[in-house]
Amino acid sequence: MTTGILAIIIFAAIVVQVTIIMLISLYRRRKQFRAGASALSGMQPSATPDVPATAEANAWKGFRQFVVQRRKLEDAQGSICSFYLAPADGKPLPPFKPGQFLTFKLDIEAPAPQAGKSVIRCYSLSDSPDPNHYRVSIKRVPAPADRPELPAGVSSNYFHDRVTEGTHLQVRAPSGHFHLIQESALPVVLIGGGIGITPMLSILNTLLQTGSQREIWLFYGIRNGSEQIMREQLLSLAEKHRHFHLHCCYSNPTANDVEGIDFQHRGRVDIPLLRATLPLTRHQFYICGPKSMMESLVPGLEAWGVQSSDIYYESFGPATLIRHDKPETDNPEVADNNITVTFSKSGKQVPWDWNSGSLLEFAETQGIDVDSGCRAGSGGGCQTAIESGEVEYNQQADADVQPGHCLLCITRPKNNLTLAA
Ligand SMILES: Cc1cc2nc3c(=O)[nH]c(=O)nc-3n(C[C@H](O)[C@H](O)[C@H](O)COP(=O)(O)OP(=O)(O)OC[C@H]3O[C@@H](n4cnc5c(N)ncnc54)[C@H](O)[C@@H]3O)c2cc1C
Ligand code: FES
Repeated sequence: MTTGILAIIIFAAIVVQVTIIMLISLYRRRKQFRAGASALSGMQPSATPDVPATAEANAWKGFRQFVVQRRKLEDAQGSICSFYLAPADGKPLPPFKPGQFLTFKLDIEAPAPQAGKSVIRCYSLSDSPDPNHYRVSIKRVPAPADRPELPAGVSSNYFHDRVTEGTHLQVRAPSGHFHLIQESALPVVLIGGGIGITPMLSILNTLLQTGSQREIWLFYGIRNGSEQIMREQLLSLAEKHRHFHLHCCYSNPTANDVEGIDFQHRGRVDIPLLRATLPLTRHQFYICGPKSMMESLVPGLEAWGVQSSDIYYESFGPATLIRHDKPETDNPEVADNNITVTFSKSGKQVPWDWNSGSLLEFAETQGIDVDSGCRAGSGGGCQTAIESGEVEYNQQADADVQPGHCLLCITRPKNNLTLAA
């Protein structure tokens, strides 16, 4: 046998060995993935999870008086402030599901065009349940950069500038369909963009404090370190708990931000990052962030193969992911765009247009005087009676909707509609 033939045989043996090792490891990973998926199948979260009976039994109806116990700035630039709220009646607080929010009615008058109406806003609970107090963390909202002449955010600036220790606030009981599915054993991926981190903090703290062994991945997207909430606490939690993996993503780090120490990834939270970081197994995804983040991540995860029942998301602003497309239908009223919306109190009858957005946006464009608030189906501020016709919801309502009423901010007409507005 020549040296050349021997070299070829040795090379071929190495190639065969490497191929076998790769095939075995691929087989093991697929088996592990399938095992994880099948062991956890049957633990699907319900599509409309209910508030637990205990919470409902102890929760209160309408608004309850709370007193601000303490306030604390949470980021280097001082734009996020936490408020600790204790009930004025001193009675214990009902538990809530991490991810839920509180609704506030503020003792200030809304500016025009909502003048004369009270200001209602929702804020996520940002800590684990505690019988003595609730915590919310609020970001100050300035006027839009391109419209500095507009008034800055009413509620957030009121909290930052005028709500101090001892201030009384009117608060509705915790609510919301976006919350941790605690019965599941699936690893959890929390994705928070900007102030969308607050419900993730509640979920994270609850999982760690209750000793859950579920793997937790937190992807936190912000521009740079000056915007980061509770930096030291997050770092020390990640150091203490081996199953908590913190990934801070800075899209525009400053010279003071050190990669690998202050942040782990340069850029936004995106699908390539999730694919490169997460192990190949089934996860439950919880997402809250700006519109652009939700619009890229939710369909991106589905395209990656994540079941939509494993993706939970919430928007803080006007309801996102609303599909304005004209639906495929046999109903000629709908197909031909022949829907008319009548606003009975205003005496206006207007043809509906598929590009009009929600009924709230449509009413506002028509100059109809309607109430609003969160614009996300959460606070119930836009609830309006339906006199005839039907509406279709773009997303599940978090607020309680009375029979015969609808939430204008997350609905559109299904057929000719008359609203008491
Ligand atoms: C379920 C839920 C949970 C939430 N959780 C949190 C949370 O944990 N933390 C948090 O900080 N926020 C949270 N939010 C957002 C919060 O409810 C408020 O939307 C936010 O604080 C802004 O309210 P604001 O009253 O300060 O601003 P608004 O007064 O509503 O103003 C919003 C923006 O509009 C601009 N504006 C004013 N007038 C006009 C005009 N005429 N035309 C165009 N623009 C105008 C303002 O300058 C401002 O930039 C949550 C929202 C929801 C729905
Ligand atoms: S504006 Fe809050 S529910 Fe519609």
